[in-house]
Amino acid sequence: MCGIVGYVGERRATPVVLDGLRRLEYRGYDSAGIAIVSDGEITCTRRVGFVAALEAVVPPTLPGTTGIGHTRWATHGGVTEANAHPHLDSTNRVAVCHNGIIENHTVLRSRLEEEGIAFRSDTDTEVLAHLISKFYSGDPEAAVRQALSHIQGTWGIAVVFLDHPGLIVAARNGSPLVVGKGEGETFLASDPHALAAYTRQVVYLEDRDLVTITARGWTISRLDGAGVSRGVEVLGEEWTSEGRGEFSHHMLKEIHEQPESLARGVLGRVVPDEGGARLGGFDLTPRAIAAIRHIRVLGCGTSFHAGMVGAAAMEGLARIPATAEIASEFRYRNPVISADDLFFAVSQSGETADTLGAVREVQIKGGSVLGVVNVVGSSIARSCGRGVYVHSGPEIAVASTKAFTSQVAALLVAALSFARTRVLGPHEGKAFGEELLAVPKRVGEWLAADNPGVMEAVELCAQGKFVFFLGRGVSHAVALEGALKLKEVAYIPCMAYPAAEMKHGPIALLDKRTPVVVVVPDDVMRDKTLSSVQEVRARGARVILVHTEGDAAAQRLADVSIPVPRSSTLISPLFTVLPLQLLSFRAGLALGRDIDRPRNLAKSVTVE
Ligand code: F6R
Repeated sequence: MCGIVGYVGERRATPVVLDGLRRLEYRGYDSAGIAIVSDGEITCTRRVGFVAALEAVVPPTLPGTTGIGHTRWATHGGVTEANAHPHLDSTNRVAVCHNGIIENHTVLRSRLEEEGIAFRSDTDTEVLAHLISKFYSGDPEAAVRQALSHIQGTWGIAVVFLDHPGLIVAARNGSPLVVGKGEGETFLASDPHALAAYTRQVVYLEDRDLVTITARGWTISRLDGAGVSRGVEVLGEEWTSEGRGEFSHHMLKEIHEQPESLARGVLGRVVPDEGGARLGGFDLTPRAIAAIRHIRVLGCGTSFHAGMVGAAAMEGLARIPATAEIASEFRYRNPVISADDLFFAVSQSGETADTLGAVREVQIKGGSVLGVVNVVGSSIARSCGRGVYVHSGPEIAVASTKAFTSQVAALLVAALSFARTRVLGPHEGKAFGEELLAVPKRVGEWLAADNPGVMEAVELCAQGKFVFFLGRGVSHAVALEGALKLKEVAYIPCMAYPAAEMKHGPIALLDKRTPVVVVVPDDVMRDKTLSSVQEVRARGARVILVHTEGDAAAQRLADVSIPVPRSSTLISPLFTVLPLQLLSFRAGLALGRDIDRPRNLAKSVTVE
């Protein structure tokens, strides 16, 4: 949520910073801005809208070799040029980009106004620019340190000073920052995506770190002034491939990458000969697995839906009582956490503030939490310390697709390994493991085939004012995921319900025009779900059925039939979600939406 880029070196900073902003645009695209230190001034240019709008007006030949830039997802203050970052102090000698939220900005702003400062924006960030300027007396680092000592909230900041043209001061607390090591140049970004084209050698800052960056390198200290050293890490190959390739959109590319992303998640982890699975990152002994009394899976949005499937697998396969919880709600009810509970924190970005907050709540109360994370080195992965990377590869489209299936796969592998330790015999374990290993190829075959039902469903849904999604058990999680995708990508109002709950109220919404998407694989709930379909049909609504191929009875009840491969229940979400991903993509396209950058959204939600 919001992206920061910084550069100090020998090249002109403007193209490097703009390039980084383009790569980070998926983190926020309400406005963008850049501040370059050159020729005795800080040239600050900002524009509402995409980075392209900024590029069109930034003077291309600015000579400065130090610069910072920002792409914004608005929190405090509307989407205006005045509220775009960077923000300058009153004398235009200090420029600041900020991710996060300054909770005490109102009181700081009043104090500064009393001292005669005239504010130029409605943002919380502007107080930082004025505070740093106020405390500046020749030492940039000391000024930033002192200003931050007055701030309550979260920050990832990058600051440039007119008097120090070869220097950036940056600091992190709750909003990620990473330093990139070059030859005679140093980079800064809120996300390694911005850096991978320039360097793969990076240093992740920790909360309450402050770093001073020059072309020759960097010095990291703690906010209280104590020295600290952080190791250089090497970014994996996956960071360098982020083009759209042959695809028109990142979302479509990522949907079609699922055979490979799923293969990375299961190969080498599932061991059919043992009828089980190995996940070294969990670092749990069989004795510790046997002692787990309750599993709770935490996540937000799509990751929560994956967590619902994971919880069902933990309970269904491993026979451990398990629930999924929305991470943003979890910590505010002062949850009781027992030593024999095990938590999973599921997150694609690894930076979601709500999920990170839930992880900390668990840890404060002595609980044990394992990360199920995509982005290596991200805050949640680091906070958990133990866990599993889902290895989806970079997900650039704001709507999550391949991360969902990778998260589900990782949780299924974990459930298999726990199940084998506790209750599952080798034959059942082997069968489940072999089925999991076959999923990537079968997903690839389904995606490569012509699935005419998807386009027929698009026609019904794109015309509808409202779409209803139904499913039971793990298919309820898929229904929720399908509805979320259609809302965020096509902006069509949707609702998802456990199928049997429909008759307890929401059936009142149905009329002859309502498209109802029902996820009904051929499992133990099939007949019950088909009864709900009959109730839908009796109201004249239009039925789009995602069902197991060869299920003729289900097909007969459908206005639109979308068959998916046969699988066992717990594995079915890896297939049933595919048509729903394509439905939202195609519906978004038909309605002319900005598919990879839906309105009001951002990829990584680093504010509460
Ligand atoms: C939906 C979507 C969001 C995220 C949610 C959590 O397509 O992408 O609902 O799933 O914001 O994000 P992560 O997984 O990064 O914690």
